[in-house]
Amino acid sequence: MDEIQRRAAPIARQIAERLEGAGCPPPRLGMILGSGWGAAAERMDVSVRIPFAHLEGMPACGVAGHAGAFACGTLAGKPAAAALGRLHMYEGHPPAEAVLPVAVLYELGVRTLVLTNAAGAVNAGFAAGEVMVIRDHINFTFRNPLTGLCAAERTRFVDLAQAYDEELRARLRAACADAGISCREGIYMQLPGPSYETPAEIRAFRALGADAVGMSTAVEAVYARYLGMRVAGVSFLSNMAAGLAPGGIGHGEVLERSERSRASLAALLYAFAERL
Ligand code: HPA
Repeated sequence: MDEIQRRAAPIARQIAERLEGAGCPPPRLGMILGSGWGAAAERMDVSVRIPFAHLEGMPACGVAGHAGAFACGTLAGKPAAAALGRLHMYEGHPPAEAVLPVAVLYELGVRTLVLTNAAGAVNAGFAAGEVMVIRDHINFTFRNPLTGLCAAERTRFVDLAQAYDEELRARLRAACADAGISCREGIYMQLPGPSYETPAEIRAFRALGADAVGMSTAVEAVYARYLGMRVAGVSFLSNMAAGLAPGGIGHGEVLERSERSRASLAALLYAFAERL
């Protein structure tokens, strides 16, 4: 066990006790529901819902639009657990803490993890309101949750050549078709945030190969791969990135756009779970 798991285990135990009390099997499918994706939890048969703040050892989640809770039950009949909200590095959480929800889900029994987020489209061929299945990422935070970790049973030299599982990506694309959502596939770049980017930065990131930018996910994928989980990632393109559309970008706009798509995003994750 590494330091992050040692921190996550007692948090997971508090949730597992409640799950056992409700007669629920441990979840195998896990989701981190970022900005705009929280509605997916409404499609779950939730047996246990616990705010982060009620879990001893769990840091608070302080972002508007993020409930900050774990919800466990079933999705499309599959035992599932979701973190409603995440811990962002821009809130001051070091990378090893930002991945704590991933570690908690792992300790609960999750082995297939879907990471969701809202992102700005950098690829001018993409449109706001579309979904992008993450094919690969660029971790432009230059921070790594594995820094300093030491666990005898795992290597820190994690192979990320196929971080985002090909089969899960195909299922996500099929689920988009089921849910009637326009779907792209591309490269997600994680930036430190919390300010949005300048148009010059976006032009530079495009040249580096980014199709979408956001402030999460890549470090979570790194840690989940380290644990050996199968990982999928999906971005809701809430806006065109800076300089690609007239007008500015604001968190309100990001939330409002995703709010309008909440039912289809929930339908997408439901269809994905159905296909597992
Ligand atoms: N940039 C960074 N993060 C984001 C954006 C963006 O344009 N939209 C939603 N999250």
